Amino acid sequence: MVDPIDPRTWQPLGRTEVRIPPMGIGTWAWGDRFMWGFGRGYTEEDLRAAFHVAVQGGVPFFDTAEVYGLGRSERFLGQFLRELDEPDRVLIATKFFPYPWRWRARSLRRALEGSLQRLGRPRVALYQIHWPWPPRDIRVWVTALAQVVRDGLAQAGGVSNYNLDQMKVAEAIFADQGLPLASNQVEYSLLRRDIERNGMLDYAREHGITILAYSPLAMGILTGKYTPAHPPPGARGRRFPMEFLERVQPLIRLMTEIGQGHGGKSPAQVALNWVMQKGAVPLVGAKNEAQVRSNLGALGWQLTPDEIAALDKASEPLQISGLFHRAR
Ligand SMILES: NC(=O)c1ccc[n+]([C@@H]2O[C@H](COP(=O)([O-])OP(=O)(O)OC[C@H]3O[C@@H](n4cnc5c(N)ncnc54)[C@H](OP(=O)(O)O)[C@@H]3O)[C@@H](O)[C@H]2O)c1
Repeated sequence: MVDPIDPRTWQPLGRTEVRIPPMGIGTWAWGDRFMWGFGRGYTEEDLRAAFHVAVQGGVPFFDTAEVYGLGRSERFLGQFLRELDEPDRVLIATKFFPYPWRWRARSLRRALEGSLQRLGRPRVALYQIHWPWPPRDIRVWVTALAQVVRDGLAQAGGVSNYNLDQMKVAEAIFADQGLPLASNQVEYSLLRRDIERNGMLDYAREHGITILAYSPLAMGILTGKYTPAHPPPGARGRRFPMEFLERVQPLIRLMTEIGQGHGGKSPAQVALNWVMQKGAVPLVGAKNEAQVRSNLGALGWQLTPDEIAALDKASEPLQISGLFHRAR
């Protein structure tokens, strides 16, 4: 058993009625073989245990997408939800993928209906547009998103990977429909801090838009378990080459040292605490119960301002760019 986190730490999702815990669980790896190696080293049973311990631990907030494991991630969630006495207590955020062959606005609603079917739910807490990619103008998808929120298929609507200008367009379209834009889900971690510099974080704070921080552990690099001698497997190894893993070690040592001053917190727990203290909600990926339990240990304590400043300084020269770029 785990002690659930204090419900007073929950906060509104943007300016919507939905309330979320200070951390969510990412489920990209749930069924994905290519990037995460599902079936090699972790199984459905591991995911089931991860799900249930997150719910018991007071973090019943899961981020998924129709593309994760080509629908498997949502199907696993649907299966695990059916094992609960009170599935309504769980908040699911999922995403629409603007495939180039999706042309008509109504494909967003169809995609959401497919997700709801896989999840076995009548609605989701949050529906997001995964990327602002062409060919269709973002206005087409954002307008369709506002409509499914108005129709009650999603309690809130958000975007993902939108830059500041695109997020403002989405916010304005929602405002025209009398709705708040709930969130923008972007990569944010000690190793990817561009939203601090490009105005996104400040704008979101001022306008009540929640920043959902994806890859808050830089896909596991900030746990400290990957080193040049033990690089991450598969596609992650190509994103984070040996030289980069070498360069990141002083930051990991600092995180370990800082964690020791807080009763032995791990680098991962320090990394997640840092994201929360910057005002974002980390969506941390987990493949098994032990990882969820450990990540729950990021809650209930706070890095000091001096520690945050030291982490900011040490991470400055280690900044990486987009998901599809190799770190240097
Ligand atoms: N909107 C988007 O475009 C987008 C893009 C990426 C991600 N996301 C969302 O954000 C979520 C999180 O991002 P992410 O999965 O890329 O990366 P992450 O949260 O930075 O890292 C997750 C990985 O780190 C390892 N890990 C996690 N906790 C650990 C612990 N306590 N101890 C040791 N290892 C641990 C696990 O992989 P190993 O054990 O294999 O190392 C886990 O899969 C995703 O699941 C997804 O929901 C969204």
